[in-house]
Amino acid sequence: MRFSRRKFIKSSSIIGSSLLFSRSISSDLFASTSENKPIVVSTWKPNLKSNARAMEVLLEGNSSLDAIEEGIKVTESDPNDNSVGLGGIPDELGIVTLDASIMDWNGNAGSVAFLQNILHPISVARLVMEKTNHVMLVGEGAKKFAIENGFKEENLLTEKSNEAWLKWKSKKQKTENHDTIGMLAIDKMNNMSGGVSTSGMSFKLHGRVGDSPIIGAAMFVDNKIGGAVSTGNGEYVMRTLGSFLIVEKMREGFSPQNACEYAIERLFKSRNDFDGVNVSYLALNKSGEVGAYSLKKGFTYCVTTTEENKSYESDCLMK
Ligand code: GLY
Repeated sequence: MRFSRRKFIKSSSIIGSSLLFSRSISSDLFASTSENKPIVVSTWKPNLKSNARAMEVLLEGNSSLDAIEEGIKVTESDPNDNSVGLGGIPDELGIVTLDASIMDWNGNAGSVAFLQNILHPISVARLVMEKTNHVMLVGEGAKKFAIENGFKEENLLTEKSNEAWLKWKSKKQKTENHDTIGMLAIDKMNNMSGGVSTSGMSFKLHGRVGDSPIIGAAMFVDNKIGGAVSTGNGEYVMRTLGSFLIVEKMREGFSPQNACEYAIERLFKSRNDFDGVNVSYLALNKSGEVGAYSLKKGFTYCVTTTEENKSYESDCLMK
């Protein structure tokens, strides 16, 4: 069954809100979201601030690609976000390694993986897309490319993240933390772009790369249809190319909500090892309809229109 926009509102719980403007709150968030009215969605409630920045960029008449880059940079710069950029939890060796990807409305894509000591992987991913014939650069090569293009090397391991690593090292406790930012935006020209940025799984094996830089896994955009992003355990997303799957289901006529549910249900049926694992998807179609669904409880996401900037808690399969 397809969810109407109104039904989506009723089935989601609003858990945070900050008005962008002094206008009164619309009784139906999505009634005001028509073509050519910008919209931004992203994973996780703390990214309301990143959505607000992305919307500012869109309202200035800039492209959805600019909005994605500027919005995600807010999260990458936040030392208190321990899953993205500065302050990201390091790998098993105490080294912060970053993955990111970006995609525009023409199907162009760029990504970086295992990037170290560069604050804004999303910007490097954009440069890979715009300045090279390649889609992905990794590790030392990605860093060399970034430095050649004016990025500075800096230490991204904060005291807090280092302390967390020392504690983990002494006890080798199993930890779960996946707060990857995935963002989708439609601009005034009705063009959609998407992006993802993360420091990946906490205390991962040195060299581990997740789903974030894999186009079609953590993020996919088709400007005729819509886009999808993921957060959670990247290994489970990479095996199923979840974001590509969701966009293809929307192409078949599924609503974003039903497409996200389809991808999670398919994942659920394909394996039986979900202890300590969560996977969540967020999708946006070209009509401005939003869908979100998670394997387990706790996934929050942000929806920002010209009127409102709100977060919601997603429904999940394994209750
Ligand atoms: N989804 C982020 C990661 O697993 O690296």
